[in-house]
Amino acid sequence: MSVHTDIRGNVHNEAWWRDAVIYQIYPRSFFDANGDGEGDITGIIKKLGYLRHLGVDAIWLSPFYPSPMADGGYDVADYCDVDCRFGTLSQFDELVHKAHAADIKVIVDIVPNHTSNVHPWFKEALAQGPESAAASRYVFRRGRGRDGQLPPTNWLSNFGGSAWEPCGDGWYYLHLFAKEQPDLNWDSREVRDEFLRILKFWCDRGVDGFRIDVSHGLAKDLSTPLRDRVDPTVMGPQAADGSDPIWDRDAVHAIYREWRELFNRYNPPKYAIGESWSPFTPRIFQYARQDELGAVFDFSLSKAYWDREEYRTSIGRTHDFAVEAGTSPTWVLGNHDVPRAASRLGLPIGASINTWVTSNGTIPRIDPDMAHRRARAAALIMLGLPGTAFVYQGEELGLPEDFDLTPDEIQDPNWERSGHRFKGRDGCRVPLPWNAQDPAFGFNTTGRSWLPQPEWFARYAESSEEHTEGSTWQLYRDALELRHRWVARADGDVSFEWVNDALRGGLPLAWRLPSGMTVLANFSHEEASEVSGDYPALQVLLSSDPHLEQGSQVSVVPPNTAVWCCER
Ligand code: NOJ
Repeated sequence: MSVHTDIRGNVHNEAWWRDAVIYQIYPRSFFDANGDGEGDITGIIKKLGYLRHLGVDAIWLSPFYPSPMADGGYDVADYCDVDCRFGTLSQFDELVHKAHAADIKVIVDIVPNHTSNVHPWFKEALAQGPESAAASRYVFRRGRGRDGQLPPTNWLSNFGGSAWEPCGDGWYYLHLFAKEQPDLNWDSREVRDEFLRILKFWCDRGVDGFRIDVSHGLAKDLSTPLRDRVDPTVMGPQAADGSDPIWDRDAVHAIYREWRELFNRYNPPKYAIGESWSPFTPRIFQYARQDELGAVFDFSLSKAYWDREEYRTSIGRTHDFAVEAGTSPTWVLGNHDVPRAASRLGLPIGASINTWVTSNGTIPRIDPDMAHRRARAAALIMLGLPGTAFVYQGEELGLPEDFDLTPDEIQDPNWERSGHRFKGRDGCRVPLPWNAQDPAFGFNTTGRSWLPQPEWFARYAESSEEHTEGSTWQLYRDALELRHRWVARADGDVSFEWVNDALRGGLPLAWRLPSGMTVLANFSHEEASEVSGDYPALQVLLSSDPHLEQGSQVSVVPPNTAVWCCER
């Protein structure tokens, strides 16, 4: 670990992120200070006290840039400004300043794979034609077949349908997401320089780091003729050798080496974490190399069934690969793209845990109490692991997914592009409930809300959670506080050891941290084995089942429960 003192005498720990808890804010749905029905920057400023009280180390803001919102702001029209629905640049500066004063770091989302179709570059490209220099910042190609009636390749959009949109005279442009999100051409030096400028712009404004959207998608193989994909329906790399024409190509790493040079010019260096989806875990960790982004998301917990073996395997794999790459493991239970843990974890094993919720009544039955119980246990599992943990807004309230949005309420482009097969991701993006009695459950004072909140949100309102003994909010707050002493290590050490063999019956999943804390997680429906054998007597530090009191001796672990304990 290296510590650095700046010219004002402030001491910075360069590796602050290695054991941090990073709270993801989806600005549109967090807190709405001006009452227009959409959250805003001032709303975030107003809730800094809340975040500090909760105990998070950093906030990551999903995009707040000017955008027509074709994909919730991941369609950026201007990378160096704030959308007026969210506020102004000076309010952003105020947020950074006040967050830092509250000892909270600020991470922003960078969307380099595509721009909005109303970005000046794309408008220029359309105006000047597909063979113009302006168009070479994007990917324009002539279609196949007579007069180009067919798209140039079989590539599909992640949101459904072809990834090629016709733009006249047999020409098409590439969009791996919505058609309002044209893909940039990262072979272009101008594109690369522009992003270095954008990153520098935010670095100079004082942000502490970046979350890189679709980080594994920038370096397509655009050599002529373009290659079809072997199986176009597989969204993500199909082979572990970088041979896919779109995803996770080796050439992408050179881009991040340039970015790292920029990030390292700051003191402390800027943090960067890649959103790289791939079934080939070892390749994912290449993005986390020290001369590249330095960190990468591992989403295995956000996809795992509530199953002991699955958790054990994914935790072990994530941890080992991270250590090998010289980074910290990252732990994610949810984000703005996946159904909320407090619903997902109630699915029976084997039921579809597609990241997209189907619209036609095929959502498997979820037992809400079970889901709630397991989500609390999962929180102690995630926060009881060394590394960087990500908490998605509302997770600390135990907020479930809203499955009830009607077709005319849905805004996710997945819905239209999938021919109404997938409702999409709006169910985890509904504005947060802050106060059961207030309009819009305290999201604002006017009662407006860009996505309707269901009546049952009242039960999860933050104000009641915060003051209720044994609530999920209190569980998170206690866990975040205890984590400093028992889990986080200032020296960046992320080691732990599995201790199942020391436990009779071996039913709970168990690991021990160098601090002496042991985590026991029972995934079954039965009381888990006695904790005895050669293992020292343990007492409860924190339990996801509120009936196991702090300080009591642990003899059994209740079903669907995780317990943090220390030796008596
Ligand atoms: C990943 C983001 O998390 C998601 O919300 C977005 O739709 C896609 N990237 C495209 O930008």
